[in-house]
Parts: sequence; structure tokens; C-alpha cells
Amino acid sequence: MRIMVIGGGGREHALVKALKKNPTVEKIYCLPGNGGIAMDAECVAIGAKDIPAQVEFAKANAIDYAVVAPDDPLAMGAVDALTQAGIPCFGPDKAAAIIESSKAFAKNLMKKYNIPTAAYEIFTDAESAKEYLKTSPIPVVIKADGLALGKGVIIAETREEAMEAVSSMMQDKIFGESGSRVVIEEFLTGPEVSVLSFTDGETVVPMVSSMDHKRAGEGDTGLNTGGMGTIAPNPFYTHEVAARCMDEIFLPTIRAMKAEGRTFKGCLYFGLMITKDGPKVIEYNCRFGDPETQVVLPLLKSDLLTVMQAVTNGTLKDTVVEFSDECACCVVMASGGYPGKYPTGFAIRMDDEARAHTYVAGAKVTEDGLVTGGGRVLGVTATAPTLDRAVAEAYRMVGNISFEGAYFRRDIGHRALAELEK
Ligand code: AMP
Ligand code: GLY
Repeated sequence: MRIMVIGGGGREHALVKALKKNPTVEKIYCLPGNGGIAMDAECVAIGAKDIPAQVEFAKANAIDYAVVAPDDPLAMGAVDALTQAGIPCFGPDKAAAIIESSKAFAKNLMKKYNIPTAAYEIFTDAESAKEYLKTSPIPVVIKADGLALGKGVIIAETREEAMEAVSSMMQDKIFGESGSRVVIEEFLTGPEVSVLSFTDGETVVPMVSSMDHKRAGEGDTGLNTGGMGTIAPNPFYTHEVAARCMDEIFLPTIRAMKAEGRTFKGCLYFGLMITKDGPKVIEYNCRFGDPETQVVLPLLKSDLLTVMQAVTNGTLKDTVVEFSDECACCVVMASGGYPGKYPTGFAIRMDDEARAHTYVAGAKVTEDGLVTGGGRVLGVTATAPTLDRAVAEAYRMVGNISFEGAYFRRDIGHRALAELEK
């Protein structure tokens, strides 16, 4: 099998490493990949959004199977284009990817099919949005409708902040056209759980649950980032919560998409909040999460490629998807300054053990070897029979990796460990 993975971050590195385990895989290309992924796949300088070039490359290189990982190419129809060219592909088509690319679509879907989520209103002009905010409960959550690199969500603690958010999204267009429509929703509280699932549009198989750590600072303070670390499984996702999620959220969502003529095939990510009224959907993503993938795939016992092909072929019902009952922790190491401005180009040093457990997000290969090349540079994942051991192991390996200005949170997993001790 000759495989092509679209994307170039830590998530794609985890996908490549998991796909490589299948003995029938003779070659993996990653488009565009990165300097770290180049240790495990052949990276090709074709951008994740350059769909015509991807199709051409796949045809010219006899690709047997493609995996489209990031949100942008999925929303732009990469899976449609590859499938049309005769290349079997993992990921939702454009019609189904809208579940992530339009928050308004996702909210309306949940309302129509009674899927629990925060109460909301949608606005297409700033005046009505501001009128609504004059009397809305505070805090309030304001979301740009379209893709905004995970930054299009503002939790306003005051009415002034809420008004400002509307001005900057709808009038100053800080997120471009993504902000011409906004969703204003009820502020919910409770622990957050990420559940990635495999679905072929009929059957849905949740993967092991996980917890992201989105804020830059320890104690969940500071700016939102792409994710500073993850653990799995998430202790707030009890058997009881899991059963409710399956009945009230996962199956209804899959059925709703099918009923809308937007059958979803691929990895559907449920961003959940466990409120006092039960689990509610905070967001859907039409793809594997980053850095959730870096803790979920190391716990997958079944062969990833086999499961992905079952999703593509619509045979997930007959496929065994097994996870280990171990725990995993991924600690992200970022460039000093991230998520603000940061310098890059610093040599990355690590021993062989750390290398084997590392998923590289932003690095380049130069004459000096591997050097930093992004905000989030890499994630290190350890697995162990218990969460406290996985956390300790991940930090031990972090100690064997260095680059100038390296920043990482020292408290990944602490909230989960405190819950487990209760
Ligand atoms: P999203 O991009 O929709 O996942 O939002 C980013 C983060 O904002 C989430 O992970 C939550 O921590 C927070 N968030 C989003 N929506 C709400 C809400 N309705 N209530 C409270 N927090 C929220
Ligand atoms: N970790 C959150 C995401 O992938 O969007």
C-alpha cells in the first residue's frame, strides 16, 4: 500500500506513525509534512490547501489510500476531489465537513434534532447582535461562524467586552469573512471532554476519551493556544456519561447528518462539556483533534489503516476497534513567546527514546539537523498502566529534549489526577 497523508503537524505525525505499523504499508508520503515527520515519511512540498496538486501527485505516484487530516482541505472538498479521481480517502466530503466549518450549521442541526448544546442566537448584522447583548445573560460566548484557527471564540465576562467582540468580528473583520455571521450562546460550565469517533455514516465507534489543555499558562490561565497537552482517558467521562453521550449525542448526530443528505464518514470529534444537566456539545470538529490524536492513537490496539478503510468502505459495523486500558499523557513543548511572537531556528536535541515518543508539530531540517520552526514545536507522549505514571514518564522524557527558549506547562494532567484522587 502506498499512502498519502495531507497535513503537517503533530497530529499528522501521530497518524503517520500509526499507519506505518501496518505491514502492507510500503510507502507513506506526507503533504507538506515537516522536518520531524520526515523521519517517518517522505515529505512533499505541496500545501495542505493545494487540492489540484494533491490529486495530481496521488495519480502520478500510484497512491492507494489518502488521509486528509486538517479542517481547511476538508472544508474545501479535498475528499471529493480525490474520490472523484479514483483515490479512496479517509475524511468527510465537503457537504459533511460543514459540521465544523459553519458553527451556525452545527447549532441549527443540534436544535432541529434535539441534541443537547448551549442555547444560542445567530446574527448576520452587528446592530441586532448588539441589541440582543444589551439584555443577554453575562458571561456570554461569541463565536465567529467560520473557521478561525481555533481563535474565533470569545468568552465575554462583561457586556462591554461582548459588544467589543461583536465589533471586532463583524465590523473590523479580524477573522475575515468567518466573522460576517456570529453565534452568540449561553455560557456553560463543567469539565470538558474530547471524544474522537470513527464513523462510516451508519455506525459510530467512539475512541478513548481525552482532555485537552488549551490555555498557555499553568492552572488553565493565559491565552488560548492550539493545545499545550492532553491526557487519556478523561476521568470525567464516566461509563454513565459515555452511555448518555451515545444515546443523546453521538448516534443522533450521525443520523441527523444522514437525514440532511450529508452522511459523515471519517473522524467526527465531539467537544463536550459535562454540565450539571448532563453532557452538551460545545463544538464538532470534522477531523482528528490536535493534540488529542497524540494520546488517542498510541492507545489504539487495532490497526489504524484497517479501521480507516472500514470507514471508507462502510463496513465499520463488522470491524473490531480495540483500545488498550492504559493511560497516556502528551506534553507539548513550544517556542518561548508562543502563542505570541516567537523566534525559531533553534537546534532541537533529544535522545533516541524521546525521539521514538515524539510527534513533531513545527520543525525544519537544516545543515544543523532538526531546528524549531513553529509555535508548538513537538509533543511527547508516554503511556503507562496508570495516569500518574504516564504523566511522570512524559515529563521525564521532556527532560531529555532541549532547544533554546523551550516552554511547556508543568501541570498537564493535574486536573485529571485530582479528579481520580476524589
Ligand atoms: P470552541 O472553539 O467552540 O471549542 O471553543 C473554544 C473553547 O471555548 C472551548 O473549549 C470552551 O472551553 C470554551 N467554550 C466554547 N463555548 C462555550 C460555552 N457555550 N460555554 C462555556 N465555554 C465555552
Ligand atoms: N484540540 C482541539 C482541536 O483539535 O480543535
